[in-house]
Amino acid sequence: MQPVRWGILSTAKIGRTKVVPGMMKSPLCDVVAVASRAEGSARAMADELGIRKAYGSYEALLADPEIDAIYNPLPNHLHVPMTLAAAAAGKHVLCEKPIAVTADEAEQLRQAASQVLIAEAFMVRHHPQWQRARDIIRSGEIGELRAMQIAFSYFNVDPGNIRNKADIGGGGLLDIGCYAVVAGRYFFESEPLRVVSLIDRDPAFGVDRTTSALMNFGAGRQLAFTVSTQAVPYQRIQVLGTKGRIEIEIPFNAPPDTPTRIFVDDGSAHGTRSARAIEFPTADQYQLQGEAFSRAIRGARPLDYGWEDAILNMRILDALRRSEATSAWEKV
Ligand SMILES: NC(=O)c1ccc[n+]([C@@H]2O[C@H](COP(=O)([O-])OP(=O)(O)OC[C@H]3O[C@@H](n4cnc5c(N)ncnc54)[C@H](OP(=O)(O)O)[C@@H]3O)[C@@H](O)[C@H]2O)c1
Repeated sequence: MQPVRWGILSTAKIGRTKVVPGMMKSPLCDVVAVASRAEGSARAMADELGIRKAYGSYEALLADPEIDAIYNPLPNHLHVPMTLAAAAAGKHVLCEKPIAVTADEAEQLRQAASQVLIAEAFMVRHHPQWQRARDIIRSGEIGELRAMQIAFSYFNVDPGNIRNKADIGGGGLLDIGCYAVVAGRYFFESEPLRVVSLIDRDPAFGVDRTTSALMNFGAGRQLAFTVSTQAVPYQRIQVLGTKGRIEIEIPFNAPPDTPTRIFVDDGSAHGTRSARAIEFPTADQYQLQGEAFSRAIRGARPLDYGWEDAILNMRILDALRRSEATSAWEKV
């Protein structure tokens, strides 16, 4: 397969430290160029990572005929506008999560997505630990699914951070609540019917800093999650079935350089004594994500989740925010 020639839209931290190094490990991805609003920043990132070209504007990158696909890790309010600009230039786009600020905004991608490939960068679905956990659920080993519990938190009160800026799509729900929603849809393999949320906002930033929610997936299946941008760093997924439970130890930020673990427990002993650990060899979910998108561009294997999946996820995030306003259950 001819490697896909990638252009990187901005010097965003996630791109510079995780996604681009992951892609550069792969023979399927050729990272050709990076662009920044400041040419010096683009040059510095290009030099650091060994990327050939550096552009001083996003538009210059999109005009480069040598580029097949764009990775878009801009602040959330620029996901849709710059994905549309890239699509208009004939480039495929792997866009960071959340794909938009609202589902209506994400709908604007519909037409462009008929011309080029557009997908949301939920790297977690590419990690073998998620895929194995779902295989175990499908096998029936933990019985019928009843509930999921998800926690995801970190502590960040930097007023300059994009997560603490309300006007550019900040807040914990869009930043990490989106992972809880995607996890529920992935492991229950269905869509929630209705949701209710409790949201605490930072008084100075105006963004949601702690969000808890209940989601009704029907057939007696419930998901409860808490995400916070101002709590001790922690992350976990628990899936409870009638006969067993699966716990994913580091479900979202799985390290690219050390093995990870999940636990399967039949509940025969309290605590963790009856839990069986399954260890996964080192895997870089960002490399795997870049490879999957590159294969889809070259027609070797279609994407498991495309832009329509991203819109479904946004609809749920919208419903959670409506619930904050109404203090009531909201249909999705
Ligand atoms: N999948 C994951 O694991 C993961 C992890 C973290 C973040 N993310 C997502 O990735 C995106 C970027 O997150 P990040 O933490 O890497 O952000 P970041 O370091 O703040 O980078 C955002 C970049 O966007 C550019 N930019 C353009 N307009 C801007 C504006 N008005 N304000 C600030 N920056 C602006 C800047 O690049 P230039 O100066 O070079 O133009 C900046 O470096 C977000 O959508 C986030 O949700 C995903």
